[in-house]
Amino acid sequence: IEVMLQPTPALTWVSTGGILDLYIFLGPDAQSVIRQYLQVIGYPMMPPYWSLGFHLCRWGYTTTNTTWNVAQRMHNANFPMDVQWNDLDYADKRRVFTFDPWRFGDLPEMVEEFHKRGMKYILILDPGISTTSPPGTYRPFDDGLKRDVFIKNATGQILIGKVWPGPTAFPDFTNSETRQWWEDCIRDFHSRVPVDGLWIDMNEPANFVQGSLEGCPDSDIENPPYTPRVVGGQLNSGTLCMSAQQKLSTHYNLHNIYGLTEAYATHSALMKVRGKRPFVLSRSSYPGIGRFSGVWTGDVRSDWEQLRYSIPAVLQFSMFGVPLVGADICGFGGNTTEELCVRWMQLGAFYPFMRNHNDKPNLALQPYVFGQKAQAAMRSALNIRYSLLPFLYTLFHHAHTSAETVARPLFVEFPTDPSCQIIDRQFLWGSSLLISPVLEQGAEELAVYLPPGTWYSLYNGQPFHSKGQYLLLPAPLDTINVHVREGHILPQQEPALTTTASRSNPFFLTVALSAGGWAWGHLFWDDGDSLDTYEMGNYCYVTFIAGQVEKTQVVCICILKKPVYKIMYLNPVVIYLSLCLFPQVLTVTSLALPMSQVFTVQWVL
Ligand code: NOJ
Repeated sequence: IEVMLQPTPALTWVSTGGILDLYIFLGPDAQSVIRQYLQVIGYPMMPPYWSLGFHLCRWGYTTTNTTWNVAQRMHNANFPMDVQWNDLDYADKRRVFTFDPWRFGDLPEMVEEFHKRGMKYILILDPGISTTSPPGTYRPFDDGLKRDVFIKNATGQILIGKVWPGPTAFPDFTNSETRQWWEDCIRDFHSRVPVDGLWIDMNEPANFVQGSLEGCPDSDIENPPYTPRVVGGQLNSGTLCMSAQQKLSTHYNLHNIYGLTEAYATHSALMKVRGKRPFVLSRSSYPGIGRFSGVWTGDVRSDWEQLRYSIPAVLQFSMFGVPLVGADICGFGGNTTEELCVRWMQLGAFYPFMRNHNDKPNLALQPYVFGQKAQAAMRSALNIRYSLLPFLYTLFHHAHTSAETVARPLFVEFPTDPSCQIIDRQFLWGSSLLISPVLEQGAEELAVYLPPGTWYSLYNGQPFHSKGQYLLLPAPLDTINVHVREGHILPQQEPALTTTASRSNPFFLTVALSAGGWAWGHLFWDDGDSLDTYEMGNYCYVTFIAGQVEKTQVVCICILKKPVYKIMYLNPVVIYLSLCLFPQVLTVTSLALPMSQVFTVQWVL
């Protein structure tokens, strides 16, 4: 399909054929359009809590030792991190469901060690199954052959293409027997290497030869009367022959949903094998994939332009019902600079899915390889993210249950503000947190658009009263501007080096009162990992309300160190509060209240 946006405004829609189901979502506003669309394609899954932590990956962690040392150095340098990843390096001759006995012989032990530390482990799976191992030596292929799970060519033989391990066959996930075989492969592998999630790559499906090793027949569906502007100029470029046969239909009809069908099979296999909430990350995507998987934006380059493009990319997936999305932080291809990587970590701290990943030949991107100033800025970005995870998790709950967006374009939240229509350099988390990253080399200040109303700095409570205008704000290398919208309460938690640890730290609230003296917010809380906690009622949902009973001034509560004087009452015990940098900021500390019980905090000015 080819879709062109015309200046009129209009869309020109060209399809080479097939079945067209046309839905028109009438809105009337953008958020309603998104919800109506998600009512058709499905609401997104609830991700495990740990998957909202920091993920670290690269192609080129060539041994378990290297991999372990990376995580160790992150830990020693006090960088919060939940998940260590391995790319194809782990696999024996690049064949999935195996691990290299020499370089990764103790992979199972390493994964157990990560688990003991409260961390998780993920590795890559490609769909291409190597076909050249001697019979009896590579079970996934032997079993797959017996169970007839592979895609066939037009004459009924298994279609052989070429991917990382050499000649490969491609599972047909539209076949229920294939899904069962895939689950068996995952179960068997998981019994040896207890991975916590799976990264499904190359699933367009990508193929290094055109169509197959034998080429493709010369037919109409390989060369239709009109070919959209696809990479390589032909429908079968870089992928399978269109005439290839799958259980449900020809590959021509199924090509675009190959990744979706694999994500579905992987999600349900992980659910059955682990009995916990699955984590799947997919490169290929299609409407509906958010029910099963997160998505990353593929092989981006380490440059400022791609840093900028990552915002609209993330926001688009948000609107497509894939809230768990992010770009490879610091860029996948080419070498980063320290400054770019700092700015990318700051922006990445606000991608709903936060992973730093890198291609083999490039300079390392792990935060600890940079200078002290850069490390401090990255550490601070990570700590801010970790402190906000209860809020982020609650947004995912709203996405899962009400089709709300997590990373949200400004025009969705402020549909009548014309300035918001074109903003793609800032975005929101939900309706209340405005993120304004630096996206230009050398910038130390930033023009930040604040929609009408009062916005408070997340860091020190400084208020900004906006009529709907751009303000020039300081943005030195150690800072990403983040503002809380008046009328909102954010549930937060003291950060820690993993979410396993941070989940038992004290909570705190940032309360940004409206001009009228009100604010509200929510917290969704469960064990973070079990299946269907919302559906089965195994969760806690807390609503926070701040309001004035008598005439007082506008007050905002933030966290600060030193108590100054006592005028605060808690059911009805006197507690401490303090004034901080800005005269209208109050801090209340050491409350030690259980989140699960109703409590009231009163203050008098
Ligand atoms: C392509 C993926 O996009 C990339 O992230 C990965 O590192 C390589 N394949 C190697 O597996």
